[in-house]
Amino acid sequence: MEKPGNLILVIFGASGDLTSRKLMPAIFSLKMQKLLPEKFAVIGCGRTEFSDTDFRSRMKEGILSFSEEKDPEGFLIDEFIGSLSYFSIDSTKASDYIKLKEGLYKKAKELDAGENFIFYMATPPSMYSKIAENLHRAGLADQSAGFRRFIIEKPFGYDLGSGMELNRKLHELITEEQIYRIDHYLGKETVQNVLVTRFANGIFEPLWNRNYIHRVEITSAESIGVEERGGYYDSSGALRDMVQNHLLQMVGLTAMEPPSSLESNSIRNEVLKVLQSLQPIQAADVPGQVIRGQYTGSTIRGKCVPGYRYEKGVAEDSRTETYVAIKFFINNWRWGGVPFYIRTGKRLPTRVTEIVIHFKKTPHHLFQREVGNLNSNQLIIRIQPDEGILMKFDMKEPGAGFNVKNVNMDFHYKDLADVRVPSAYERLLYDVMMGDSTLFSRDDVVETAWKFVEPIQKAWANDPEIKIYGYPSGTWGPSVSNDLIEGCGLAWRYPCKNLSDDGLYCEL
Ligand SMILES: NC(=O)c1ccc[n+]([C@@H]2O[C@H](COP(=O)([O-])OP(=O)(O)OC[C@H]3O[C@@H](n4cnc5c(N)ncnc54)[C@H](OP(=O)(O)O)[C@@H]3O)[C@@H](O)[C@H]2O)c1
Repeated sequence: MEKPGNLILVIFGASGDLTSRKLMPAIFSLKMQKLLPEKFAVIGCGRTEFSDTDFRSRMKEGILSFSEEKDPEGFLIDEFIGSLSYFSIDSTKASDYIKLKEGLYKKAKELDAGENFIFYMATPPSMYSKIAENLHRAGLADQSAGFRRFIIEKPFGYDLGSGMELNRKLHELITEEQIYRIDHYLGKETVQNVLVTRFANGIFEPLWNRNYIHRVEITSAESIGVEERGGYYDSSGALRDMVQNHLLQMVGLTAMEPPSSLESNSIRNEVLKVLQSLQPIQAADVPGQVIRGQYTGSTIRGKCVPGYRYEKGVAEDSRTETYVAIKFFINNWRWGGVPFYIRTGKRLPTRVTEIVIHFKKTPHHLFQREVGNLNSNQLIIRIQPDEGILMKFDMKEPGAGFNVKNVNMDFHYKDLADVRVPSAYERLLYDVMMGDSTLFSRDDVVETAWKFVEPIQKAWANDPEIKIYGYPSGTWGPSVSNDLIEGCGLAWRYPCKNLSDDGLYCEL
């Protein structure tokens, strides 16, 4: 891999959690792999007063706590934090950008780094357009002397209207080519591997359609609750936080047509076509096609955990969903009639993200199967943890007769001893430095995803009759979500069993 050209990275909101927990460990990892530019510096910005020394020691702490890279001598980490500095500014105040501009040009001159700048908005989303406006006013968005790239964190709006408004405001100031919207799922090695599995192997693509696939299931489960982010989460919920971005992006990659090349717009055009083909869920169909839930207090492995409404920052009568499951269809030639099921939730029994392709059964059942083995072939693409791929198929049980047993053929990335799976932020930051936007969400993709989600948001907001189901922490969500998977004996794939001591489900 080649080194990017010289540049300076400016992070707004550098006093926050994301910078120390994710961004600095990722940038340091690039340093360890010699993938940072020859001339490179990071400038952190925020209202919090830090000296350069304070900021460096805070970032060092973040790297030591969260980085997987080993730097036993500590030489590289000290060299790395030497490239960090901090500007105490209020990112919302236009006048503060004069100070930032002076400091930025001074740093560029000192380093002889040229004038390529990346601006990372690691602040609350309400500030994105203000920061872009202030940078534009200060002449820092102008690309005549070098590139100016803007990284934006999710959420990209709260609904269709605000998502479009954010895009509109940004486009008044900068071009779409300058914008890199981070959906960190796209930075995950195994999400990218969906493309390789599909389009590098001749055996899968001929089967990848309505003729051979019975249904597609995508699960993104977290075992933790809202932790310290109750305040943020209560105004967001699983539909906005996970479905509109991460899950629909995974649907796009799983269902897209082969792109003509790996050029960024080629791939994003195909993802867009999938999202444009999603059959809209009408308000009247929301109760039948979309199940929402909220975790309740329970005992997991002998430990009491509080219900969502008892979490810090959460309203005691909150109706924010911590679980959502959706059944939908993609109206195109490849997928006509094939149901897609997606689900995501907090406080489920385990942390797992996987895509499960359920192939159709054989037309004639010759053999006796073990109980519960109704669907013999599944391809499971495990996004996290234990990244890899698993193929489930039937084989003969040794002995008399023709009893059939379902077995696994699997590959785990961890078995590649000499390969380290890079973190999503590491890959994405490197791509921005290289100017490759393939793994970033484009404006039209984001808006089309909001269009799909909007009728669900509206139905929930307008119809108090639509239920929100409670589910005990440590279980796989409300049992009614099983009803989404129609047909005799079909069920979600459960990567592990309920952990809650009480398996009861209730209606909130
Ligand atoms: N943390 C994560 O793991 C994660 C994951 C995915 C996406 N994100 C997104 O990444 C962004 C940053 O996340 P974070 O967890 O680091 O956020 P954060 O801690 O809430 O905010 C980051 C910084 O923004 C500044 N800020 C906050 N409110 C402000 C205001 N009203 N005016 C001016 N500055 C303000 C603060 O710095 P000063 O007070 O020093 O100015 C704060 O340290 C958010 O948009 C979040 O949704 C975060």
